[in-house]
Amino acid sequence: MIALALAAYARTHARPAAAEPALPYLGIAGEVDLVWTSADRRIQLYCGDALAALDRLDDAAAGLVLTDPPFSERTHRGARTRKRQGKKQQRAATMITFAAAGDGFIRSLLEECARVSSAWTLAFLDRHPVGLCELEPIACARLVRVGSWIKSNGAPQFTGDRPAEGQDRIGIFHRDGLRLGRRADGTPMRWNGKGAQAVWTYPTARGEGFEGGPETVKPLALVRELIRLFSDPDDLVIDPCAGSGTTLEAAHLEGRRAIGIELSPAYARGIAGRLTRATAQQDLFPVRSAR
Ligand SMILES: C[S@@+](CC[C@H](N)C(=O)[O-])C[C@H]1O[C@@H](n2cnc3c(N)ncnc32)[C@H](O)[C@@H]1O
Repeated sequence: MIALALAAYARTHARPAAAEPALPYLGIAGEVDLVWTSADRRIQLYCGDALAALDRLDDAAAGLVLTDPPFSERTHRGARTRKRQGKKQQRAATMITFAAAGDGFIRSLLEECARVSSAWTLAFLDRHPVGLCELEPIACARLVRVGSWIKSNGAPQFTGDRPAEGQDRIGIFHRDGLRLGRRADGTPMRWNGKGAQAVWTYPTARGEGFEGGPETVKPLALVRELIRLFSDPDDLVIDPCAGSGTTLEAAHLEGRRAIGIELSPAYARGIAGRLTRATAQQDLFPVRSAR
């Protein structure tokens, strides 16, 4: 009886399929593969290189690009494992299992992200690329603010010789059109946060990714808030370094469409599983567009 009532609810609340604009296809045979798509075709995941996939997108195709590329070599080297180890081993060990990004890759990635976004590009960045973008602005976009994710449960500085970092920086870029402060369609720059500060306090993510996934999973609640603030319902959100798929799940929960790209086939399999679980209930309890 309950199942019948739920099925009837689902039928009356289902989105009209005809109204949906189709997502662009970014596949390149043997290089960038479409590995997962949601039943309603609003969320897609590709496995392959971010730059190759983004190159397939038109200018201003996305409402928002939100990404979290690997940190620079220096930051990766500094991230120590939490496992108990001898001093010698500990010096050599790093917490991060995926490769660090060179400055050249980060710059190219940010420029491609800014090109395909009609307005905002948000990128979790360590201080080295933030500094480089301040010194030499990237093409297509302006660094408007450097936001902060304050880690309410951040680790102390184990060496004790300096303050602990306690935060991640979020580069907040806006498309730089012919006129500063305009979206790609010429309308004025805007976000949904009115006069709020670019500071967000959340605990680090615990158990939100998947076994064997990246170590740097961002909190789902934080990414959901960023999506609400910097995009509108039904916008296309793109994350070209999808990691454990946080942006894709957050976009789904916020009623946005989304495309993710992830280089690692193992991570891509994990994301597919995460999204299958996250979207499994959507036919029974459709996600409502939220501001
Ligand atoms: C910091 S993690 C992203 C974590 C993610 N925000 C989350 O919450 O799980 C960076 C990801 O970028 C991926 N990556 C690195 N280089 C890439 C490239 N060229 N193309 C696509 N993904 C890449 C890595 O494999 C890694 O999964």
